[in-house]
Amino acid sequence: MKPDPKNLPTGLRLMQDPTLNKGTAFNEAERDALRLRGLVPPHVQSIDDQVQRFLGTYRKRATDLERYIDLASLQDRNETLYYHIITRFIEEMMPLIYTPTVGQACLQFGQIFRRSHGMYVSQKDLGHVAELLDNWPRRDIRVIVVTDGERILGLGDLGANGMGIPIGKLALYTACAGIHPTQCLPVFIDVGTNNQSLLDDPLYLGLHQRRTTGEIYDALVEEFITAASEAFPQALIQFEDFANHNAFRFLHKYRTRVCTFNDDIQGTASVALAGIYSALRITGKQLRDQRLLFFGAGEAGTGVGELMVTALKAEGLSEAEARKVCWFVDSKGLVVKSRTDLNEHKQPFAQDHAPLKDPLAIIEALQPTALIGASGQQGTFTQPIIEAVTRSAGRPIIFALSNPTSKAECTAAQAYEWSGGTAVFASGSPFAPVEFNGRWFVPGQGNNAYIFPGVGLGIIAAGSRLVTDEMFLTAARTLADLVTEKDLEQGRIYPSIQQIRDVSLAIAIAVARVAQQSGLATRKVPADAQSAIKELMYVPNYVSLV
Ligand code: NAI
Repeated sequence: MKPDPKNLPTGLRLMQDPTLNKGTAFNEAERDALRLRGLVPPHVQSIDDQVQRFLGTYRKRATDLERYIDLASLQDRNETLYYHIITRFIEEMMPLIYTPTVGQACLQFGQIFRRSHGMYVSQKDLGHVAELLDNWPRRDIRVIVVTDGERILGLGDLGANGMGIPIGKLALYTACAGIHPTQCLPVFIDVGTNNQSLLDDPLYLGLHQRRTTGEIYDALVEEFITAASEAFPQALIQFEDFANHNAFRFLHKYRTRVCTFNDDIQGTASVALAGIYSALRITGKQLRDQRLLFFGAGEAGTGVGELMVTALKAEGLSEAEARKVCWFVDSKGLVVKSRTDLNEHKQPFAQDHAPLKDPLAIIEALQPTALIGASGQQGTFTQPIIEAVTRSAGRPIIFALSNPTSKAECTAAQAYEWSGGTAVFASGSPFAPVEFNGRWFVPGQGNNAYIFPGVGLGIIAAGSRLVTDEMFLTAARTLADLVTEKDLEQGRIYPSIQQIRDVSLAIAIAVARVAQQSGLATRKVPADAQSAIKELMYVPNYVSLV
C-alpha cells in the first residue's frame, strides 16, 4: 500500500502523520522532495538504528506500565517503527500490548491518556452516528473492534478506560496477521459506567453517568452496527469485552446479518479447543472420552463448551452425547437441570445430576479429566482441587484461562507442583517456564491472538459475508496441527508465539476456504491461496515515498 505521491503532505505535516512519518530515517531524496531539509537531523538513520534507540530506553524502564506508555507514544509518532518493533519482538511485546499489561493500562487509562485513537460513539450521538463515522479520515476499513467497556478482561466495568482493549487487539491484528493499520478502527460505545471510582475521577474520559440500559442502549448499538456496515461495507466487526448478557444477545442478533463475531465467546473457544486437541496428543486420549469440568459458565466457558459440542458432533457423537462431555460450575455450583436460575446460554449444558456446590465434592462425584477455568476468580483451583483432579485423571488437563494474571485460577507452578508434574497446563495470561523435579515445563498460553488475527485475515481475503462456527473449528484444528512433537515434549501445547505470522497465514487460508465452500465468499480464493494471502499481509518496513 504505497501512499499516493500526489496527496502526500510535506514538511512538518508529513512528520506529524504517524502513518507516514519515518523520523530520522527519511532518505536524502525524500528530504529534498518533501521539504524536510532542516526539519530532521542531518544523519540519515536506518530502521535498525531507530529500533536500537527505542529499545535502549524501553528496556531500562522500571515498570511495564512505563513500557506500555513508551509503546503507545511510539504508535502516536511513527506507526511503521511501532509495528516493526512489535512484530520483530512479538514474544517480548505481546504481554505489554495485550494481557496482562493492557489490564493495568486500562485501569489507569485516564491518567496515561496522551492522544485519542479510534472513535468514541456515545449516547449523546444517538441519531447522528452515521455523521460521526464520516469524520473518520479513512474509508477502506477492514476490521473494527468494538467494546462498551462493561467487562474488561476479568477486571469488570471499566467504562471508557476499556478503549485500551480494542486498540491492543487491533495492534495484534496488524502484528500477527498483517492487517494494514490504516484498515483498522477501534471503537468505544459509551453509555456510561457503573464503576463509582471512575465516576468520581475528574480524569475519567467517558460519560460521567451510570450505564444506560434497555431500549436506548440497544438503539445506540443498532445504529452503530447499521451505520458502520454502510460506511465500511468491507469491515469485519469484532465484539469485545461486553458483559455476558449483552455479548450473547448481540452475537445472536447480528451474526446472520453482518460480518461479525464475539472474540470472548468464539475466539476463546477456538484457542481452548486447539489446546485440548494438543493436550490429548500428550495424554494419548480421545476427545469423546473426556469429562471436561468448566469453572465459569459465562461467555468464555460456554463459548468453549459450544465449540467442543460442535467438534464432538463432527466426530460422530449425537448432540446429547456431546453435551455429556461438558460439565459446568458457576458461582452457584454445578449447572444441573433442577436449577431455576440458569441463563439461556447455560441451559443447554444443564445436566441430570443432583445439585452440588462444593468444588471438591463435584470433582469427587464427576471424576473429570480436565479443569477449564474461566471464572475470573483468582485461586479457584486450590491444592486439594488439583490433587483431586490428578487422582481422577492421572494426567489432568488444567487450563486457567482467566485474565489478567491476577485472576488466573492457579499459577503454572501450582498446577505442576500440586499435580506432581503430571498436568498439561495452559493459561490465559503468560507464565514463565517452570522447573519441577529437575524438569522444565513450558506452560501454554491460550492466547486468542493465535486465532482472531488469522480468522480476520481469512475473512478479508475471501470477502466473507458472515463469520461461522465452522471457521473457528477449522482455525482450532489448523492451530493444533502446527504444534510439533518437540513442543509437546516440553508440555507446550501451542506453537511458539514467534511463529505467529505463519500461524495466522495458515489459519487464514483454511478460513478463506471454509468461506468459499459455504458460499459466503464474495472474492474467489485463488488455487495458490498461500501466495495470494501472504501478498495481502502488511510488512512493517519503510517504503520510499518518492
Ligand atoms: P463472564 O462474566 O461471562 O462469566 C464468568 C462466569 O464465572 C460466570 O458464569 C460466573 O457465575 C462464574 N463464576 C464466578 N465465580 C465463580 C467461582 N468461584 N467458581 C466457578 N464459577 C464462578 O466472564 P467471561 O467473559 O466468561 O470471562 C471469564 C474470564 O475468562 C475472565 O477473566 C476473562 O479475562 C477470561 N477470558 C480468557 C480468555 C483467554 O484466556 N483466552 C478469553 C476470554 C476471556
